[in-house]
Amino acid sequence: MIRIAQPLLGEEEEQAVLAVLRSGQLSQGPLVRRFEEAFAQYVGVREAVAASSGTAALHVALLAHGVGPGDEVVTSPFTFVATANAILATGARPVFADVSEDDFNLDPARAGESISERTRALLPVHLYGQPADMEALSALARRHGLALVEDACQAAGASFGGRKVGSFGTGCFSFYATKNMTTGEGGMITTDDAKLAARARLLRDHGQRRRYVSEVLGYNLRMTEVAAALGLTQLQKLDAFNDRRRANARYLTERLSGVMAPREIPGRHHVYHQYTIRVSLPVRQAGRGRDALLGYLRDRDIEAAVFYPLPVHKQPLYRGLGNRQRLPVAERLSREVLSLPVHPGLSREDLDAVVSAVREGLALTQADRVAVGGAGA
Ligand SMILES: Cc1ncc(COP(=O)(O)O)c(C=O)c1O
Repeated sequence: MIRIAQPLLGEEEEQAVLAVLRSGQLSQGPLVRRFEEAFAQYVGVREAVAASSGTAALHVALLAHGVGPGDEVVTSPFTFVATANAILATGARPVFADVSEDDFNLDPARAGESISERTRALLPVHLYGQPADMEALSALARRHGLALVEDACQAAGASFGGRKVGSFGTGCFSFYATKNMTTGEGGMITTDDAKLAARARLLRDHGQRRRYVSEVLGYNLRMTEVAAALGLTQLQKLDAFNDRRRANARYLTERLSGVMAPREIPGRHHVYHQYTIRVSLPVRQAGRGRDALLGYLRDRDIEAAVFYPLPVHKQPLYRGLGNRQRLPVAERLSREVLSLPVHPGLSREDLDAVVSAVREGLALTQADRVAVGGAGA
């Protein structure tokens, strides 16, 4: 089976974890601090605050900005549900604005139309490792005096205009096992704002600045030393991993170009957490071409996947909360997208197998148009 994701762990990770196990210090300690410093330096910000997951990072970042009941947060409907769940967890209301066909990310114009007097924050997502339009979204946040929280969970190492994602607003990263770098489970908040970082540190640890003195309502959302040891080693490899992802993406795109050329958006450094093609058929048959191709690839032992088959506003949870919005771009994408293996553990033979299976599968399923790249096409 050619997997859609595969953590790449070596001798360095084994040694680093063993050293932690032998040290006797398992819970948050000096390695977490070192990982925070190294990650802040990598992203190009003053502060980083480690957390137990990407979801925890988003939750804590929003709380640290003072987001809570009565507030609205404008976000993308075309994302993993954790993005919106973190907003709900603060007591605020997620407001979904449609995404752009160009990058599958929050459309700045639609986001602008969704701002009300209750809006407290913008929460764009850098989906598949493709940076959102941070120039327009930063300007929008500034114009309306909103907090800008970036869901960079899929985009460690990506940049916009030469500047790393997670440095435009408050960055939230995930180190889940399938991500471009991993600690098994883990997360990180990045910011230039020392006061915000201090609040985040309180919130992740029961409001304690000093042990057993609780100043505000906080939680246990800490990272372990084992996770930090993995993070420090994986961070050193991140750029090489991302280079491999980009080279694999290029290889696929060149060979699938008979279908349609991929397009990377100038000025944006895509790190291909996913390599996502679009398979579209006439409206009557929408979804069938994509799902037939998915089945064909799986029969050939290629693990392709759909991220995400149901946009967040159509999830039972959000419909149950009364959401009846129509967001045509997100809804169409959820019927058409298909992610192919692109991770750095793939061999040349694996990539060739993916290319020929996609070509054959497409010929069989007779999809009439395919766009490549996850960057829009
Ligand atoms: C876009 C996005 N947001 C949030 C998350 C949540 O991260 P985690 O699984 O580490 O909680 C993920 C990853 O799973 C994600 O892909």
